Formats: sequence, C-alpha cells, structure tokens
Amino acid sequence: MIKYSKQDFGDDFDWGVTISSYQVEGAHDLHGRGMSIWDKFSHQGKRIEDGSDGTIACDFYHRYEEDIDIVKSLNLKNFRFSLAWPRILPNGTGAVNQAGIDFYNKVIDYCLAKGVTPWLTLYHWDLPQVLEDKGGWTNRMIVNCFKEYADVCSRAFGDRVKNWIVINEPFTYTALGYLFGYYAPGKFGINNYIPAVHHSTLCQAEGARVIRRNVPDANIGTSVGCSHVSPASDAPRHVAAAKRIDVMFNRIHIEPLLGMDYPIRDLPALERIEKYIQPYDPELIKFDFDFIGVQNYYSLVAYDVPLVPYIGALIKPFHKLNRPLTANGWEVYPEGIYKILKQFGEYPIKKLMVTENGAAFYDKVQNGKVHDKKRVEFLQKYIGQVLRAKNEGVNIGGYFVWSLMDNFEWKAGFKSRFGIVHTDFKTQRRIIKDSGRWIREFLEE
Ligand code: FCB
Repeated sequence: MIKYSKQDFGDDFDWGVTISSYQVEGAHDLHGRGMSIWDKFSHQGKRIEDGSDGTIACDFYHRYEEDIDIVKSLNLKNFRFSLAWPRILPNGTGAVNQAGIDFYNKVIDYCLAKGVTPWLTLYHWDLPQVLEDKGGWTNRMIVNCFKEYADVCSRAFGDRVKNWIVINEPFTYTALGYLFGYYAPGKFGINNYIPAVHHSTLCQAEGARVIRRNVPDANIGTSVGCSHVSPASDAPRHVAAAKRIDVMFNRIHIEPLLGMDYPIRDLPALERIEKYIQPYDPELIKFDFDFIGVQNYYSLVAYDVPLVPYIGALIKPFHKLNRPLTANGWEVYPEGIYKILKQFGEYPIKKLMVTENGAAFYDKVQNGKVHDKKRVEFLQKYIGQVLRAKNEGVNIGGYFVWSLMDNFEWKAGFKSRFGIVHTDFKTQRRIIKDSGRWIREFLEE
C-alpha cells in the first residue's frame, strides 16, 4: 500500500508517459523516410544483443491511434514522443518530406482530439545517417543543421504543440555513441566525444531559441539523463573520483546551459573542450529554459582508479552493490531519484520535470495478463521519492513513465521490456500490464 495519493502532487502536476521515434515507429523506409544512424548501426554485425533492429519495432507508425487510446485509457494526460529527423528531413537538411510532416500532424491531431497533450522531443538519437557521414555531432556543421530542423518542426507543429524538449539525454549518445562505441554511431575516443558534447550543448540552446522565435508561448525544456554519484568510501581519493564522475554524468550537460561554464576545474580532462569553443559560444550555449527534464534510472558509486585514462575513476558494477536488480542489470534504488532531484534543485532552474523513469523486468504473459509486480513496486517507490523531494521544496512539475509499451531498447534490442503495456512483437498485440492498471487507478479523478 502506498502512503500518498495523486492529490499530494497538486492539480497542476503533469502526469505522462514517454516513447521515442526509433524505438516504436517502425516504417523505417516508408513514405520517404531517410536512413538514421540506428538503422545502419543495428545492421552492423552483432551490435544489437538479440540481433534485432527498429525496422518494424512497435509499428506505432500504423498503430498510433490504438496507442494514444491506451494513453488516454490509463488516465495519463500527457504523451511525450520524439520526431524522427530523417522522416522530416531525409537528407538532414534541405528538402522537407511532406509525408513525414503529415504523419506527425496526424499523431498530434489525434492526441488533441482525445484530450491528450503532446510533448515533442526534437532529438531522441536517430540522427540522419547522411549527417553522420559528415562527422555527425563531432562536426560543428551540426549546429546549423539542427537549427534548420528545429525551425521546420516548430513552424509545422507549433500552432498546436506547446511543450517542447529539445534534446534527449546528451550524456547517453555522446558518451556511449562517440566515446565508447557502444551505441550508434559506434565511434570511439575522446576526440570524438569532446566536440560531440560541445555541439550538443550548443544545439540545445540554439534549438530552444528557434522554437521560442516560432512559438512564443511554448513551454521549452531539454532533458538530461542524470544519476546521483556517491564515493565508494569517505577516503578523499574516492570523494574526488566521485566528483569527476559527477561532472561527466551530470554537470557537464547542464551547467553551461545555465551560464555556469563547463566544470573543467573538477574534471581537468575536459580542458580539451576549449579548442572547440568559439568566441561567442559562452553566450550562445545559454538559454532560459522553462524546465529541465530529469531522467533517472539508477545512481552510481564511484572509486578512484588512477590508471583509467582521462577520468581516473570507475563505477562499481550494480551487482556488487547488494541492491535488487532490474532485468537489464540496473539497480533498484528509489532514493537515488530523490537525491538527484535534490541536487538539481540547487541549480537556478525554473522547474524540473521527471521526463523519464521506469524499469525493465522479466514479464510473462499469463492468461492474457501481465502481473509485473516488481514494476508496480518500482514505480510506487520512485514516485514516492519524487514526492519526498517535492515536499522538501524542489520545484518538480511532472512525472513521465518510461515507457508506454515495450519497445526497441537500443543495444538490448527487444530483450529489455520497459513498458507499462506489453508488446507482442510478432502480432503487435498490446496488453496493459498490472503497472499500467495501477497507474490508471492512481490517476483516476
Ligand atoms: C533512456 C532513454 C530511453 C530508454 C531508457 C531505458 O536513457 O532515453 O530511450 O532507452 O533509457
């Protein structure tokens, strides 16, 4: 039994659910969509753990009505989804693919007709491959391309869409995609990573300015993946290591946007970024966001390892922390979301929104039902910790579950099921899990 109710969050608290284009849409080559870096990456040998790809995914492209009906039926008033850049601008820039605009118009209009508020993310990692061929996020040309894309989208949809998220989790695609080669586009090395970070920072602020110009009454945010970091012990070397990890996972992607500069002092390897900063950039990377989306899945315990290049630290594997684990090996640690919200609450940010939180578990369909007790408990506990932070004065305006339905979970393919709705990837049948039913009850008027 939970000890709180929806009312404790207040009437103006936004409850919602999140998906992203490549993870659900499918229709990878339909109606003029160009190729994205995930189309290419997922077909390169054994990149994806179960050998799958997003070619069909959840077939949201054809089933969006049914899926939005489900959102509505779960009493969720807000639906966050992303636009596929290659569906709108197949060549990255230039000619607009009207069929792509038409598709998102239909999705948006259907949401509005059902009384579900759309929240658009401009970029959730499916970069047009043609831009990656020119260096992608490592090449400064990306800034102008992104501004053009933001301009096309905000002109096309801004009359009806008022909630915008510029970029989803720069940490994930810059670190995993350009430093460790683990996500698309599969590049390695600090010399790819550092410029990718700076150009992503620039694009968040520049993209936000474009939206503001075209949609003056927009509610504009951007989202950061963030994890509370604690040191392995009180030993000063571990405390210093935790500080460096905190820079890399959290601070680097938020502080420059707030006009605080890159936290180079606390992570000297970041000095390399200065090479990419042009004279007006310190001004250009600032933007007065209406909200910052906080996305949290786990927290981190860091320890000092001088031999590790650049960062001199490592993160303790989750299975060594003596905490319960999710199906993809992440820890379950509800207090982590409270701690990171408190940390972000110290920044001069107008409002925080939890734009993603959720978990993968081994779900089974039994007699047409999915009793995902662990996910129900996960959500109840994490939401309870969000309330705790809110009650202690952190200005939190909403909570969005990741995810509406099981979908293509990047590197893990279809193995990691994060949905509150089960997807049968063969038949595309949806089954509302117990977690979805709990959300529905919890949000009942
Ligand atoms: C986040 C991503 C989202 C999903 C969840 C599990 O980092 O934004 O697309 O993969 O993790």
